[in-house]
Amino acid sequence: MRNDYITVALPKGKLFSLSSELFKKVGFTAEGLTEKSRKLVITNEDLKLKFIITKTADVPTFVEYGAADIGIIGKDVIEESGKDIYELLDLGFGKCHLMMAVPKDKKRDKLEDYSHTRVATKFPRTAEKFFTSRGMQMEYIKLNGSIELGPIIGLSESIVDIVETGTTLRENNLEEIVSIMDATARLIANRVSYKLKFNRINKLVTDLKKILDEEEKND
Ligand code: PRP
Repeated sequence: MRNDYITVALPKGKLFSLSSELFKKVGFTAEGLTEKSRKLVITNEDLKLKFIITKTADVPTFVEYGAADIGIIGKDVIEESGKDIYELLDLGFGKCHLMMAVPKDKKRDKLEDYSHTRVATKFPRTAEKFFTSRGMQMEYIKLNGSIELGPIIGLSESIVDIVETGTTLRENNLEEIVSIMDATARLIANRVSYKLKFNRINKLVTDLKKILDEEEKND
């Protein structure tokens, strides 16, 4: 049976409203598309669109397996997932960076001085790639949220986490030691969907580019 729908995976959390607002501007929308929706699949029958709202870290998985044709997700999450997907467009919003931080009063002289210590993070793969590239061996403790708790309660010496405004670091007396990567939201696609549904996906990319260019000019 032919699947004429385009299924879009949107992440819960900080990127949801910005993503759905941007999609609305290019006519990719559906009635009842809100983060709070209890409905798991929100469909627009007229436009042959389906939206699924998933946990941030799961967006690349839904897209890699083709359960969603396209999705919006941060570059940081793409890197960490290691999933085989197409990255179609840098959407520019959701700017943040991944960094290592430690309690202000426990700073060591240089980065290498943290070798063989524990680091708490939601991004163990990206963190390991970074530290290995610096010749450092670390012990990685995977947490799923509230990473800052790690060094505060003595679970780890440091954290590798996302910083957006810096408020969380400040409020927990943590200081950035080194920046690991910059990230923004990206439009991603399943490799097969991109070929089979090329016309619709490509039109979406063109329309989004136009909107983003206009917004940049008006800035
Ligand atoms: C992220 C990140 C930091 C915070 C950084 O957490 O893990 O905790 O945002 O933002 P800031 O620099 O603007 O303070 P998120 O809110 O996604 O929740 P989590 O801690 O449960 O992952």
